[in-house]
Amino acid sequence: MDKILVEGGFPLRGTVEVNGSKNAALPILISTLLTDQRCTIRNVPNLRDVDSTLSILEELGMRSERSADGAIEITEEDRSPYTAPYDHVRRMRASVCVLGPLLARRGKAKVSLPGGCVFGVRPIDLHLKGLRALGAQIRIHHGYVEAEARRLRGATIYLGGPFGSSVLGTANVMMAAVLAEGRTLIESAACEPEIVDLAEFLVKMGARIRGIGTPRLEIEGVRELGGAEHSIIPDRIEAGTFLIAGAITRGDVVVKGARIDHLTAVADVLHSAGLYISAENDAVRIHANGKIQPVDVTTLPYPGFPTDLQAQMIALLCCADGISVVTEKIYPDRFIHISELGRMGANIRKEGPSAIVIGVRELSGAPVMASDLRASASLVLAGLIATGETEIHRVYHIDRGYEKIEDRLQSLGAKIQRVTEE
Ligand code: EPZ
Repeated sequence: MDKILVEGGFPLRGTVEVNGSKNAALPILISTLLTDQRCTIRNVPNLRDVDSTLSILEELGMRSERSADGAIEITEEDRSPYTAPYDHVRRMRASVCVLGPLLARRGKAKVSLPGGCVFGVRPIDLHLKGLRALGAQIRIHHGYVEAEARRLRGATIYLGGPFGSSVLGTANVMMAAVLAEGRTLIESAACEPEIVDLAEFLVKMGARIRGIGTPRLEIEGVRELGGAEHSIIPDRIEAGTFLIAGAITRGDVVVKGARIDHLTAVADVLHSAGLYISAENDAVRIHANGKIQPVDVTTLPYPGFPTDLQAQMIALLCCADGISVVTEKIYPDRFIHISELGRMGANIRKEGPSAIVIGVRELSGAPVMASDLRASASLVLAGLIATGETEIHRVYHIDRGYEKIEDRLQSLGAKIQRVTEE
């Protein structure tokens, strides 16, 4: 198992290029189940979660090939399989999104029910409610969702839940509705850029979708979809993580390819924390001058501040000149990083769905344990500014969502390396 060693205290300077978005790539790859024609997806990041998605697709009869330039070509070889087993879904929750496309095109789906995860219960009731509204017969049996439908039928579906819209719920139901008979109206649809990217790919395949990027999606079902080519949008969470790396080390970092229009809330919060952030041609630049100011941050569905940058933001605010309150409105229990940051000298108290972050003069390097993807990123960021050495264990979490993070931070001047543990 690998670990990452970071020696803190070096301001990051230079340019780093952002990769394609993981959370856009996963449902888009899955949506190729909707056609028997070849699809070419470009700018797909080279990540463990992408490999997992391709192996599920393989089980489902799809053949894929990755070319040297990062493009993935996918073609259907066998339309008969319809089962996504526990072993796959357990490793990656996004695989539950095969439900919609399998139902819509193969009339049947058997998908392991995903369990909870380190940031709490993560139900899929909204996915199932949407698919049932489209006419699917669904039962939960021996830990599996078993779904059937001869042909789905358009319906009006309200997809809002107790924590707002659902990103993958919207993806799942939208992918089913594009092949349903008649018109579907999804109210309270997720507006995240990753959902916009998926919808735009579906339109290229021949789907008829209006209201893309708004909470009201109108879908006119078609009988079949064709192959299409698409380039995945840049990863706004990876870009945000690099921007916070520049901020925490009081450096000057340019994230090439990042889209400022996808990062409005993040830029606003960083600006309030006293950072200089600007859009430059095809890039976003951050530079620091002086102290980090405390800020209050609340995570919300897009265009609000993303929950996937909450842990990284807490790492930054650990070094602010005062007290910040970070409130988690998507996953109220997504605070597992707090205790590991505490081992590095951070002063954070959890109160309900909020973290009260009291800025400290310095963090000190320590052995810490990665627990999930974004929590791991926050430990790397804290390591960049801590005195001495930080040793991050279980870094396979970070490899799910950041490609070669140590090489890319190294190119900005960080003292970071990966070591293979015995
Ligand atoms: C997506 O997960 C992302 N994953 C997550 O990114 C991200 O944290 C999350 O959206 C929120 O932005 C992928 O895109 C692969 P949700 P998703 O359904 O779609 C509740 C990362 O680090 N809910 O939008 O599963 C749910 O419990 C990952 O890259 C229901 O109540 O999240 C949560 O409170 C982790 N019922 C809220 O809605 C449902 O049926 C939003 O979750 C579904 C969700």
